[in-house]
Amino acid sequence: MKIAVILGTRPEIIKMAPIIRLAHNRPDLDYFILHTGQHYGYEMDKTFFEELELPQPKYNLGIGGQPYRKQIGYMVNAIMQILNQEKPDVALVQGDTVSVLAGALAANKLRIPIGHHEAGLRSHDLTMLEETNRIITDHIADYLFAPTPDAYKNLIDEGLTDKKVVLSGNTVVDALNQNIKIAEKKASILKKLNLTSKEYLVATAHRAENVDNEKRLYGILKGLYLVARDLKLPIIYPIHPRTLKNIKNFNFKIPPGVRLTKPLGYLEFLQLEAHAKLIITDSGGLQEEACILKVPCVTLRDNTERPETVAAQINILAGANPEKILACAWKMISEDKVWINPFGDGRAAERILNSLNDKLNNKNI
Ligand code: UD1
Ligand code: UDP
Repeated sequence: MKIAVILGTRPEIIKMAPIIRLAHNRPDLDYFILHTGQHYGYEMDKTFFEELELPQPKYNLGIGGQPYRKQIGYMVNAIMQILNQEKPDVALVQGDTVSVLAGALAANKLRIPIGHHEAGLRSHDLTMLEETNRIITDHIADYLFAPTPDAYKNLIDEGLTDKKVVLSGNTVVDALNQNIKIAEKKASILKKLNLTSKEYLVATAHRAENVDNEKRLYGILKGLYLVARDLKLPIIYPIHPRTLKNIKNFNFKIPPGVRLTKPLGYLEFLQLEAHAKLIITDSGGLQEEACILKVPCVTLRDNTERPETVAAQINILAGANPEKILACAWKMISEDKVWINPFGDGRAAERILNSLNDKLNNKNI
């Protein structure tokens, strides 16, 4: 079986890493990495290949930093050319980014089977580009890997057959399990930033609907200010380049109590998350990691495609309203919690590869 692993952004590299590492060590599998270059540079891209000891991509389209319409057109065209040349048995994509949709559309056009890891997530908010990306990808994919029972149910409810859908778990757990001990041994971010375990908060925000919107970004920064002031704890904010650019464009000041850092490597970031008292974020991956690491989470969105953690009351939706962010932060640090991890047992990569192998070798399964 030959797999085209198509990826383009930070979370895709992290979540594909367990699959790539496993495929690399299996003599029955052939694979290559096709990087769209949507994320680029050391902090958003190369550091993850180094830290996770991944082989270099065979192809890199270098299409980062371009407007959406330019990216999608160029990516589909270039991916088609590569897939046509490589003739893989399956094109594997992960998540809901532009790179995912482009990879899926290119494979679909060439009638190459598509595998979609993290299938079935739904925010039910079609104003999010990611929601349309994931719906389209799911409905043209041949092998759907749903991370949670909720995601599995969404796919079946939309009429996809259970022959196509596998409940695999999410490789975010595999990646975290494989790296948390290494992070605790090797990373020294607490020392570097002069922090004490459980006496600081971590924040991240990068979603277009938050940080491209002046009012919402202002609300989030004001919310972080109120939280740092009232909880009397510093907030460490490794900032996404998109957000930094918008803070400058809107002429906003970083509020007292909020400490910006550049985007961190995965090991340092895992260590920072694990020792935080609270995580405040609009990131999908952070909502998952907070729950696995048993750190309460406040989500800076009005909806989430990861509703399991909200139902279990270990995550709460605060939107971008400063007072609501503060009230949610107090609530999350004050209440006792029953921790659940709906994202799997850390063997998702193995399940995905075994399932692809079985299905491709026996088309009737
Ligand atoms: C993308 C995904 C989002 C995902 C996020 C993970 C889409 C539509 N969005 O958002 O779903 O949650 O990645 O982080 O696919 N930039 C840099 N350096 C980089 C990457 C980006 O400077 O390495 C800047 C550029 O100015 C770029 C902007 O950030 O134009 C936005 O980057 P883009 O990849 O379009 O979207 P993200 O916000 O990163
Ligand atoms: N991450 C990281 N360094 C950072 C911020 C995040 O390594 O400074 C990791 C984090 O551990 C998670 C992933 O990046 O695995 C989440 O990526 P992001 O928030 O950019 O995207 P999303 O998950 O929202 O698509």
